Amino acid sequence: MQTDSSFTFVLFGGTGDLSMRKILPALYEAHRAGGMLADSGKIVAVARHIADRAAYIDWVNEHVKPHVSKNGVDETAWASFLDRIEFVKIDLGNPEDFTLLRDALSGRPGIRVFYLATGPSLFVPICRALASVGLNENSRIVLEKPLGYDLKSSNAINDAVGEIFAEEQIYRIDHYLGKEPVQNLLALRFGNVLFEPLWRREWVESIQITIAEELGVEARGDFYDNTGALRDMVQNHLLQLLSIVAMEPPHSMDSDSVRDEKLRVLRALKPIDPRDIGKVAVRGQYHAGVIRGSAVPAYATEPGVKQDSNTETFVAVKVEIENWRWAGVPFFLRTGKRLADRVAEIVVNFRAVPHSALGASALRGGANRLVIRLQPNETIRLYCLAKQPGEGMNLASVHLDLAFDRFFREGQMEAYQRLLLDVINGRLALFVRRDEQEAAWRWVEPILNEWATANKPPKPYAAGTWGPAAASAMLAQHGTCWLEEEN
Ligand code: BG6
Repeated sequence: MQTDSSFTFVLFGGTGDLSMRKILPALYEAHRAGGMLADSGKIVAVARHIADRAAYIDWVNEHVKPHVSKNGVDETAWASFLDRIEFVKIDLGNPEDFTLLRDALSGRPGIRVFYLATGPSLFVPICRALASVGLNENSRIVLEKPLGYDLKSSNAINDAVGEIFAEEQIYRIDHYLGKEPVQNLLALRFGNVLFEPLWRREWVESIQITIAEELGVEARGDFYDNTGALRDMVQNHLLQLLSIVAMEPPHSMDSDSVRDEKLRVLRALKPIDPRDIGKVAVRGQYHAGVIRGSAVPAYATEPGVKQDSNTETFVAVKVEIENWRWAGVPFFLRTGKRLADRVAEIVVNFRAVPHSALGASALRGGANRLVIRLQPNETIRLYCLAKQPGEGMNLASVHLDLAFDRFFREGQMEAYQRLLLDVINGRLALFVRRDEQEAAWRWVEPILNEWATANKPPKPYAAGTWGPAAASAMLAQHGTCWLEEEN
């Protein structure tokens, strides 16, 4: 991916957790790989608590370097990466400070990217301050999730930002869209004739999408307690994955063709009747437990979390899509913190053969299934039945395996690296358009409202398990179970 387009990448929240763990390491990787970033491209970090560039570079050495590259740091590349970094001290509460930024950026070639790695309450003030010094021209703005708290607050942010930046200047990031296997799902579906004819209600019985984490809320207790898993993961990551799994083949891979098709799916989600929420959505909260041999505390005792918190750390929800392709096929979405394993995967369960000439073993589960593992160990596996060697016709489930690191030894890219390069190069396809975001909020809102007004505690689950039993019961009603329950 060669580029010669110059840029200035302005990082608001330059000392925040996201900058430290994701954004600066991703920019370093792009720099180290060579040829991905124009030589003249610069990074301008913005922060309030740091005195000057030298102090910022010290901070980067201390805090960012440990998060860089699994394969160790290339010291020469690291040194030249630091040369790209400049620093402007700005108090975001003080709009006049933005003249310092304007002066620092004046006369620079290429596009300006403003990355807002800050809380959403700062999005509008920062955009207004940028506009007040004329920096909204020739620029792109990147907004981190969560964008708002509900449909109303997200609309308020989008309206205000939209008065300053045109939609094609706005990059709403959802890092799940940048993950390599998600891209590969598009290649699998639309680059082969094999799957597409089967990718519909006639042949698919159910679909599961799981994002399970072993981590708890870490240092983000305060943020998380006001957010919860439905806003943090379902409204964005899980619904985006669902829309990619379920979308119609796009006309091309240009940004609006893909996003138009995803939007159609989001608009076709069957609205949830508030009276049914108890049947189609489960929310849970972890209690103390053990993960990989270590005791972990209950959510309610984490720093920043209210002791009597009703915030959910687990959600499982049944989704239906009202169109010809998917009518009647349940999509089960699930996410949780402090679960038994860290795994993100999409499981497409195909129907069993309608009649088995091979005996009952051809009808049992474990085969006729496609599993797309997003992390860890990115793989796509197609489970089929095969005859066991030896006498008689005994069948066993086997799989065809696409393990990416076996086929492609080089060139793997972290999600943030891909997405940041897309922003710099003006590619919008992997960013969420405003109408998609609105449709997603509209769908989750009845659940949010019901949970807020019912004021019932979430169902408890022990850390280190797969969440509340009710999540399994929901699938049992459809004659199925979560993938790990089969093994
Ligand atoms: C973020 C959420 O968007 O995604 C976090 O805010 C979550 O709570 C994270 O831990 C998970 O991302 P990944 O890529 O580590 O699965």
